Amino acid sequence: MYFCLYFVLGVLSSKGCFSANPQPEQILAFAGGNAILPCSLKTPSSDEVPTVEWSKEGLQPNVVFLYRNGFETFEMKNVAFEFRTNLFMREVTNGNVSLRISSVRPSDAGIYRCLILHVNQRRETTEVQLVVGGSVYFGLWPTVLSVH
Ligand SMILES: *[C@@H]1O[C@H](CO)[C@@H](O)[C@H](O)[C@H]1NC(C)=O
Repeated sequence: MYFCLYFVLGVLSSKGCFSANPQPEQILAFAGGNAILPCSLKTPSSDEVPTVEWSKEGLQPNVVFLYRNGFETFEMKNVAFEFRTNLFMREVTNGNVSLRISSVRPSDAGIYRCLILHVNQRRETTEVQLVVGGSVYFGLWPTVLSVH
């Protein structure tokens, strides 16, 4: 608290005080296209396969991708994301558990949470905000093209 006050007075910026709850990184995608939501393990180790749960704020059920024991687990997955989410499996062993969402829909916009559960119970979470742009026209393109 005192440190925080001094920080404000000294630097004339409140930025450092609220760093415990930073704004999530924003990723822009277009409807109909793909999005990559970044998430990485801070300390990747090749002899451990952590559980990775990607969820979306406000969604019921909120799981959009669940990776356990080296495989995708479907039981808790929201059907709106069926066949549309995946990890980059070749990157997972390097600790890169970024989520790919394909055929992005305007309703996909929102805040996603990447939860990494280590075998020793340690958790890491990262939040990413997906912004979907150009929704209407981009969404219509495949329809227009398939008519011809
Ligand atoms: C994770 O993998 C994706 C897909 O290959 C790539 O775009 C991204 O840059 C990688 N992230 C890191 C931190 O290596």
